[in-house]
Amino acid sequence: MKAVRCDRTAAWALLQSYFDAQGRAFDVRRAFDSEPNRFSAFSQSAPFVFADLSKNLVDARAEELLLSLARECGLEAHRDAMFAGEHINPTEDRAVLHTLLRHPATEPVPAQLADDFKDVQSTLSAMLDYAESVRADHTITDVVNIGIGGSDLGPQMAVLALAQYVAPGKRFHFVSNVDGHELAGVLRDLAPEHTLFLIASKTFTTAETMTNAQSAKRWFEQSGGLDIASHFAALTTNDEAARAFGIDKTFGFWDWVGGRYSLWSAIGLPIALAIGADGFRALLTGAHAMDQHFKTAPLEDNLPVRLGLLDVWYRNFHGFTSRGIAPYHSALKRLPAYLQQLEMESNGKRVDLDGALVDFGTSPVLWGEPGTNGQHAYFQMLHQGTDVVPMEFIAVRDAAHDLEGHHAKLLANALAQAQALMVGKKDDGGHRDFPGNRPSSFFVFEQLSPESLGAFLACYEHRVFTSGALWGINSFDQWGVELGKVLAKDIEPRLASGNVDGLDPSTAGLLARLRQG
Ligand code: F6P
Repeated sequence: MKAVRCDRTAAWALLQSYFDAQGRAFDVRRAFDSEPNRFSAFSQSAPFVFADLSKNLVDARAEELLLSLARECGLEAHRDAMFAGEHINPTEDRAVLHTLLRHPATEPVPAQLADDFKDVQSTLSAMLDYAESVRADHTITDVVNIGIGGSDLGPQMAVLALAQYVAPGKRFHFVSNVDGHELAGVLRDLAPEHTLFLIASKTFTTAETMTNAQSAKRWFEQSGGLDIASHFAALTTNDEAARAFGIDKTFGFWDWVGGRYSLWSAIGLPIALAIGADGFRALLTGAHAMDQHFKTAPLEDNLPVRLGLLDVWYRNFHGFTSRGIAPYHSALKRLPAYLQQLEMESNGKRVDLDGALVDFGTSPVLWGEPGTNGQHAYFQMLHQGTDVVPMEFIAVRDAAHDLEGHHAKLLANALAQAQALMVGKKDDGGHRDFPGNRPSSFFVFEQLSPESLGAFLACYEHRVFTSGALWGINSFDQWGVELGKVLAKDIEPRLASGNVDGLDPSTAGLLARLRQG
C-alpha cells in the first residue's frame, strides 16, 4: 500500500482548523483544571519506560485527529513493511531491518528473513564469544574504538550510560574526529601490547576513520607492537577493505542496518566488551520488548507513536523548530548527541519519497545537556525567552551510588524544572515574570539498565520512524552528508598548494588565512 503524505489527507486539514480554533490558544494549566484524568490519559507505560506526556500542549481531540492522520498516512502498513523486510529505503534500494538484530533466537521470523536471521545469530554469537575472550584477557587494558557518526555515537553513549555495569580493569576510548589532537591525546597514555583497536566503519571508506585507523596502525608498529592480528579488529560490512587494510579479525553486518541504527550490530562490540555478553543480550532484550510494543500496541496506547504524533503537532502546527533533551543522569551525557544523529540525519529531509519538495517542516533541531548543569546555562531562555522549546526530561528512580542526599536533589530538580516551565509565575509583570504553559515530556526508568536503555533507544527509533512516515520522507538515507565530503577532498590539496582557482572568494580568502604563518 502506498503511503499518503500527511498534507494530502483529510485529517491534516481538520488538524489545521482545530489548531486555529483551539490549539494555538491551548493552556495546559486550564486543561488540568478541566480534565481530572489528564495525567493518566496522557501518560503511557511501555516496556521499561514510563512517559508522562500530560504537560504537553495537546488535548484529547488533537490526539484523536493526529491518530486519524497516522491511519490515513498508512503508518501501520509502513511499520509492518519495515518489519517484513520490504525495501522502504528506496533511494538506496534497501530494507531497514535493525529490529532483526534484537529479535530473540527462540522466536520465529517471517520466512523471507530466515537466512538473514541465521547470519545475525551466528555473527552475534561470534562477536559475543570474542568479547568474552577479550574481557578475560587481562593483558588488554585499553580498548580504542575508531569510528564516527553511527560507528561512534551509539557505542560511546551506551558504554558511558552503563558505566555501573562495566567490569573494572579495562578503559574505553572513542576516537572519531579527524582532528589529530583527539587520537594523539588517547595514544599518549597507551602501550601497544595492552591495547585493542576496533576499527568501526560500515563502509570502511569514511575519511576520518580511515585516517585515524592508518595513524593508529602506524603508531602501533612504531611503538613496538608486534601482532596486528590480536590488537586490531574491524566492525564493518566491507570485509574485503578491512582485510586489505591488514585486519583479519572482522565482524560483519549488513546493508540493511543504517549507521545510526547500528549499535545493535557488530558496531556494538565495545558495549559487549564493557558490559559482557549477558549485558549486551539484555540491551537487545529491552529493545525487542519496545519493538513488540510498537508493532502490537494500538496506536492510541503506543508510546513511540504518541511521541511521533506530538512531534508532528509541534513542528507543523505550533511551528516549534527545536526540542531539548535534558537527561537527569550524568551517565546519559552523550545521549543528546546520539539522538541528534538519530533524528536529524533520519528526518532532516526536504523532499518526499517521490523527490518532490515538501512545504512543511520536518526534523526539528535536537540539542541538550544533562541536568542540573543545563539549569545554570540555557534554562533561562526556556523559562523566559521568546521561543517555546518542548523539553524532554529523563529521570531514573534508583541511583547507582550511595552518596547521601544527591539523588533526591537531582530528581527534585527534574520535577521542579518541568513544573516551572508549565505553571510559570506572575510577579512584577516584567523581569521576574514566568509565562508558563511551556511544554515538556517526562520519561522515568526504574533503573538505568541495559534493558531500559535498549527499550528507550528503540522507542526513539520508532518515534522518528513515525514522524518520518507521516511526513512521507525517507528516514533511512543521508545524502545530505555527501557534498561536504566531496568538497573537503578538493580543498585538502589546495591547503598545501595554495591554489584557489575556481573557489568562491570567501573560501579562497579563508584558505589563504589558514596558510599564513
Ligand atoms: O555521516 C554520514 C555517515 O554515513 C553516517 O550515516 C554514518 O553513521 C557515518 O557516516 C559513519 O559511516 P561509516 O560507519 O561507514 O564509517
